Amino acid sequence: MTETLIGTPARNYVGGEWREADSGETYEKHDPWRPSEGTGVFQSSGVADVQAAVAAAASAFPAWAALPAPSRAAIFHRAADAIEARTEAVARDMTAEMGKPLREARMETARAATILRFAAGEAWRPIGEVYAASVPLQRLYTVRRPLGVVGLITPWNFPIAIPVWKLAPALIHGNAVVLKLAHDAPRTGLHVAECFAEAGLPPGVLNVLTGSGSVVGSALVESPDVKAISFTGSVAVGEGVRETATARGARVQLELGGQNPFVVMADAELDRAVEAAYAGAFWSAGQKCTATRRILVQDGAYDAFREKLLARVAAGKVGDPADPETEVGPLVTESAFDDVLAAIERGRDEGGSVAAGGRRGPGDGFLVEPTVFEDVAEDAHLSCEEVFGPVTSLYRFTTLDEALERANAVQYGLSASIFTRDLHAVQRFSEELQAGILHVNSQTAGADVHVPFGGIKGSGFGPHEQGRAAREFFTDAVTVYQDAPLA
Ligand code: UN1
Repeated sequence: MTETLIGTPARNYVGGEWREADSGETYEKHDPWRPSEGTGVFQSSGVADVQAAVAAAASAFPAWAALPAPSRAAIFHRAADAIEARTEAVARDMTAEMGKPLREARMETARAATILRFAAGEAWRPIGEVYAASVPLQRLYTVRRPLGVVGLITPWNFPIAIPVWKLAPALIHGNAVVLKLAHDAPRTGLHVAECFAEAGLPPGVLNVLTGSGSVVGSALVESPDVKAISFTGSVAVGEGVRETATARGARVQLELGGQNPFVVMADAELDRAVEAAYAGAFWSAGQKCTATRRILVQDGAYDAFREKLLARVAAGKVGDPADPETEVGPLVTESAFDDVLAAIERGRDEGGSVAAGGRRGPGDGFLVEPTVFEDVAEDAHLSCEEVFGPVTSLYRFTTLDEALERANAVQYGLSASIFTRDLHAVQRFSEELQAGILHVNSQTAGADVHVPFGGIKGSGFGPHEQGRAAREFFTDAVTVYQDAPLA
């Protein structure tokens, strides 16, 4: 673990200072691969800390909003440099505290720097549109303005990418931020605060708190001075966030779960499809809302695909996430581990058969073997609900209509894949699939920085994240009818 300004115990970042929680209370995080080892001590922040962070953000907001956007961008480039300079340290902290395999943790850290550079570029792009006027000598145009103080609540599964992809558009468009980091992966996100501090971000523009969601997250959602809340996490918590925030008139953006289908047509390139299914289902131990949960294979390819997938699972490298070769590491916490093992048990009870995995993995940590189910009923828990772990199910289908119907037969609609050479099938999916993201011949997970990211149905609420889409959420649009003086 690197020694940084974050400190030991780690502190909150509020008003440009590293501060302890008002209550003096802390909590310890443990390594999910070696649960007896601590990975850090963090502030158990409370309502008073949220109030202090919101007040710091509110007083920093006017000057930050008034700073020309390209000057904000210069700070972003320095923050991106700072993240890149410590990629290895951030990645190792991420692996230690939440178990993401090092190879993925490195990729995610690099992605955070890329997101900041994309957002910095946004500072130079148009913030509105000019329209043809309907009366003489009039300029008719729109401009976008920051909202004020915004609250961001982020999950442990992408502990640097998601904080950065929320805070980057919020800040570059002139808002001040209070960020509540995930209870189970706080250290990774604190690096972001440190990088922005190093980059010269004015005090109070970005405030970062650790602690429990039910205390810190709730206080943030309830705070009357917080104009908007962007939340990524579970459906149950997201519902509460939406109710509380909308009841007081705040803007809300929710990124929730997925139950993502992966469709393999009989004409697909099977080796490529198997590799993508493996990555989608098992990288990050399946702890992504974009993970591949249901693999639907057309009759003609089913047996060959099944055989190749099971061979790939058997050859997969499972174990210590700090080993750069490891593909599948532990789940984040003991309760996540218990939940996934219980879901596997329920899958068996409901008539599913386990074709691979299905047990706890080697070691003392929270490892579950990559698990492939078959014969899962369409109304079984595994077919309908999001099991947040390395568990996927194989299903057979005959016609394209059937594949579409099955793909859409869930309450979620985040991402989906189709593997095929058939343009007709691709066209049908792009028009009829009920999901926010369609991958053709690539895995269900992953998100480019410059395009919209988000789901439909039960997977999300409000404008999508990332790319230009993020601007819509973090700004107000104002239409200006500017008539010229008559003389
Ligand atoms: C990805 O697939 O790389 O929490 C990103 C999640 C999503 C992000 C997925 N909001 O898993």
